[in-house]
Amino acid sequence: MTRLDIRQLNDELPFGARISGVTMGNVGDADVQQQMRDTFEDRGMIIFEDVEQSEDMQFAISEVFGPSQDYAIKNSDFEAKGKAGLITFAAEEKASTVIETGGRVIAGHVPWHFDACYAEKLNRAGVLRIVVNSPEEGMTGFGDGVQIYNALSPEWRAKAEVIDVVYWQYNMYHEQRFGMPEDFRLVQLAEASEQLFEASRDIPRTVHPAVWQRKTGEKVLHVSPWQADGVAGQPGAEGDARLEELIQEMKSVIQPYWHHWKPNDMAIWDNWRFVHSASGYDPKYARDARRTTIQGDYGLGCYESDWKKPAEAMA
Ligand SMILES: [Fe+2]
Repeated sequence: MTRLDIRQLNDELPFGARISGVTMGNVGDADVQQQMRDTFEDRGMIIFEDVEQSEDMQFAISEVFGPSQDYAIKNSDFEAKGKAGLITFAAEEKASTVIETGGRVIAGHVPWHFDACYAEKLNRAGVLRIVVNSPEEGMTGFGDGVQIYNALSPEWRAKAEVIDVVYWQYNMYHEQRFGMPEDFRLVQLAEASEQLFEASRDIPRTVHPAVWQRKTGEKVLHVSPWQADGVAGQPGAEGDARLEELIQEMKSVIQPYWHHWKPNDMAIWDNWRFVHSASGYDPKYARDARRTTIQGDYGLGCYESDWKKPAEAMA
């Protein structure tokens, strides 16, 4: 039996783990896979350290947690050319989407979000590796919805639990509507992002609950500021103000983990439970990140046209 080296991410955080010792030779073993799955269920995210950096290894780790699915956005430049199911977030020097905020010009910044909020079905998880990183920054942030929910006051928990959030794929980059810094300015939209952005306009909106409960009992605050479009059943200024207030509260209690990538790392996170973010980097550098998409829906999302007010849903 192989005992993997499993440690907590750090002493301060109630989530996350680091695992060393996963190799091509043992990743197919039932006992190794069980340790990986148990850690994922319990801690919600894992940094795999000192793992072989290859597409085969990335898929071997990914498939421990479930089969791959195609990217929710079809025919985009984000689909990597290699194996089906791998997507790439890559930009050459000076070719990324660039923003300015707080006096800084940043390439490749992605605000807090969970993946596929704009789809009615979520994916279970993704395995990420960085093929080319910028020499500074280029971090990935992880925020645990269980930690966030537990840090809310009883009043805020009660407020959040009755909110269903509407998402629209179009609300990204400069069109993000919630949780935006006041001084935000779009400097440059990458070509691939521009195509994706324009193709998103006609995609129907979806709804996901702001809070849901895991089978293990913990409640999860699961709100994606990126692509949020309002409160279901309450379009207009009042609903928007409720959601903005909730997102500000979430940002004030979140205890994020920012991962500084080492050359032999890979990461997985539970997409039903976590929000994640890309810090960004100096636009003069290039970056290339690759992610798998692991199948598995939590069953609580729907298209906006199918959404029913809780009172109607119970009738
Ligand atoms: Fe993402």
